[in-house]
Amino acid sequence: MSKTESKKQAVARAAIEFIEYDDLLGVGTGSTVDCFIELLKPIKNKISGAVASSISTQQKLEANGIRVYDLNDVSDIPLYVDGADEVNSRLQLIKGGGGALTREKIIANASKKFLCIVDDSKIVNILGKFPLPIEVLPMARSFVAREIIKHKGMPSWRDGFVTDNENVILDVSHLEIMEPIELERKLNQIPGVVTVGLFAERGADQVLISSDDGVSELKKDN
Ligand code: A5P
Repeated sequence: MSKTESKKQAVARAAIEFIEYDDLLGVGTGSTVDCFIELLKPIKNKISGAVASSISTQQKLEANGIRVYDLNDVSDIPLYVDGADEVNSRLQLIKGGGGALTREKIIANASKKFLCIVDDSKIVNILGKFPLPIEVLPMARSFVAREIIKHKGMPSWRDGFVTDNENVILDVSHLEIMEPIELERKLNQIPGVVTVGLFAERGADQVLISSDDGVSELKKDN
């Protein structure tokens, strides 16, 4: 097993400790969350079920015998567990490397607590080195790309990729995101934008980081 893989396993194991009896879990998407889903299998009777942030996560949960609920059929989600592509010290995130950002953002907002699980390669001082994913309605792709250039970003169409919601993704590089909440709001205003992969307004509540020294909690700077 590679070093990165064992870090993902370790942080996923740590997240399991946050689950309380009969919890309904929000479950994110990505390779770190895949480790978490595998660990849910032996404790599937401890939870009441899950809400999935992607079709792929739904299939993996169901394959492990976990009941998956439609978000419209539940009210309270006490805990949402998901990874991230970048995390800053204010627990603000870039997400969407796997293209599941829209459902992830909905579930993060619908959940009481968002526990983010990452390895130490994801921690940054300033968000934006990882190209910011933006989900866009297909007919608005070129228009939104031109608008993003006005915000000094360099958009690149994730060619051939279609989201679970039948939309496309623009990955925006060359951004140095000094004011994440402000940029998230501005980009959200562009007609045709479905979701911006900046999770700043609703960032994580708690971030667990896996490093060579074990799993620790990221201290929040205000
Ligand atoms: C999925 O769309 C993303 O938001 C993932 O949460 C993010 O890309 C982290 O994925 P990994 O755990 O595979 O790095």
